[in-house]
Amino acid sequence: MMLSKMITGILNIVELKEITAKRFDLLEKKKVLPLPKTLIHNIRSTDLEKFLKGPAVESLKENGLLIIQLDKLLSSDTLLNVCSELGTPIAENPTDEVLVPYIEKEVILNVISNNTNGNSASQPFTKRHLNLHTECSRRKVVDQPRYLAFMCCDEGELSSAQTVLVPMKEVFDKLSEKDKKILKNVRYSSDLQTPPFLRTDRENRNIFSIRDFYPDPMYWSFDDENHAYTAADIHESIKILLSHMYSVENTSGITWKNGMLVIVDNTIFFHGKSASDQIDIEKTRHLKRLRIK
Ligand SMILES: [Fe+2]
Repeated sequence: MMLSKMITGILNIVELKEITAKRFDLLEKKKVLPLPKTLIHNIRSTDLEKFLKGPAVESLKENGLLIIQLDKLLSSDTLLNVCSELGTPIAENPTDEVLVPYIEKEVILNVISNNTNGNSASQPFTKRHLNLHTECSRRKVVDQPRYLAFMCCDEGELSSAQTVLVPMKEVFDKLSEKDKKILKNVRYSSDLQTPPFLRTDRENRNIFSIRDFYPDPMYWSFDDENHAYTAADIHESIKILLSHMYSVENTSGITWKNGMLVIVDNTIFFHGKSASDQIDIEKTRHLKRLRIK
């Protein structure tokens, strides 16, 4: 029996000029993406709990997205109750000094886009763009959220800043068999308990778990049971994955309106944020975010 061989490497994402161009085109060019092809449900906040017990949840499971326009904002308690119907809310990190002032009830993060300095610790609060990713890709599968819920408390300035959604299925369908095989065996090298970048779950769904770390490099490890691949093959497959993430057809963008509640399935969509075109303006966007597993 041949022993499997672990190979490791570092992908310098800054050197991938084609990805840089595609990332710029999608997230930094300040263009407005079309809304997702999902019905927007106009629901009274008092009817929301009942609504979420109906067929809406089935459609969320199938399509990975639910967009609700509420007549009134929910209190944080109600938001938490509603989200708890979908699963278990995940605590925000109470030891993260940057996050702490924005955490409410342990699991709600007040995402207030008021940061223009671009440092990575302040990433959720940036007025700039946020690269495509799946949430908590550095965690074990059981600790990753299934759903992300966002309620818009203040839409802020009129601008091109949208939450960008990229359907995983379309990216998957573009990959060659070789790329799929490689991506099913490559993961971050910092923690071998994280899932590979591509996995198939018990329901036969193909799920990605990856973040575009640009401008930081990506440290990876690959379990090469057949001793068939080189580091160059791994780099090529990751590059192809990133390239498709930034360029599939049905990429959409959510333009936030006050009272909008959006629930996204983290196993069906990659997400990111496009840059605000009014970077110096004081008026800030405010979303309340919960991660639910
Ligand atoms: Fe995110």
